[in-house]
Amino acid sequence: MATCSDEIDCARRLIAAAPRIVVLTGAGISAESGVPTFRGAEGLWQRYRPEQLASPEAFADDPRLVWEWYGWRRTRVAACQPNAAHLALARFALAHGKTLIVTQNVDGLHADAALAAAGDVDPGPALPIELHGNMFSVRCTACQRVWRDTAAVDASSRDTLPTCPECRALARPHVVWYGESLDGAQISHALCQAELAAACVVIGTSGVVQPAASIAAVTAQAGGEVIEINPDETPLTALCSVSIRSGAVAAVPDIFDLGSEPAEGRVQ
Ligand code: OAD
Repeated sequence: MATCSDEIDCARRLIAAAPRIVVLTGAGISAESGVPTFRGAEGLWQRYRPEQLASPEAFADDPRLVWEWYGWRRTRVAACQPNAAHLALARFALAHGKTLIVTQNVDGLHADAALAAAGDVDPGPALPIELHGNMFSVRCTACQRVWRDTAAVDASSRDTLPTCPECRALARPHVVWYGESLDGAQISHALCQAELAAACVVIGTSGVVQPAASIAAVTAQAGGEVIEINPDETPLTALCSVSIRSGAVAAVPDIFDLGSEPAEGRVQ
């Protein structure tokens, strides 16, 4: 790898030179927007057990409780905006095309950033693969119809929960729960792009949930570079040629806002 003055410069150099990159994000990228993470001292899984709230069994047992939790999270996320890290990634993907953003987040903030950054142009290149779904999508438990639903959830009783506009059956959040499979086409596409990528940038994930975490390993095994942006070490750190111990907002715009200068002119 080329010598660089610091980790940020190294990351900029690698990204500028890469013909193709994959960006894998987790809850940490949205932390500075005000969205709680899952693990760590303030994480959601300190207060709740995943199998109690994020599993098909939990929903079958008590759909009202599960909807109450998703309703609370939706209200919280609806008050949040994409931060400078989401926006820098979206602008980069729109400007350079060579980027696939893959997120484990269900908050929709990457998609919001893509729309905000795109203005009148097609946001497509900046739209993420949302591996674990989106909390503002719902799915009918009977006919499997999927639709967008940003309304406040009334979980005061089973009768007030969201229902399918077609068949009136109970609806559920269109997210991937523990014990459920990811969309096969989405994860295949992400893994294929990870194999082709010269660099995988991993931002704000603890790297403990599969198969998402294996995206970085696929790039590394194929000879690509892995760059991590996270205040803490993770199981993925061992794969990294560049580790940036920082929050996303402090690092991502510096790395991805390449401006209009040629890449070689910006790094030492
Ligand atoms: P986690 O909560 O497990 O990890 C968040 C990571 O973000 C940690 O490694 C933190 O150190 C890091 N972090 C915190 N603040 C940060 C900041 N400002 N900038 C950058 N990084 C920061 O969240 P995920 O790895 O996304 O799955 O969790 C993966 C999956 O586990 C989630 O998608 C969810 C959860 O259970 C399902 O619900 C299926």
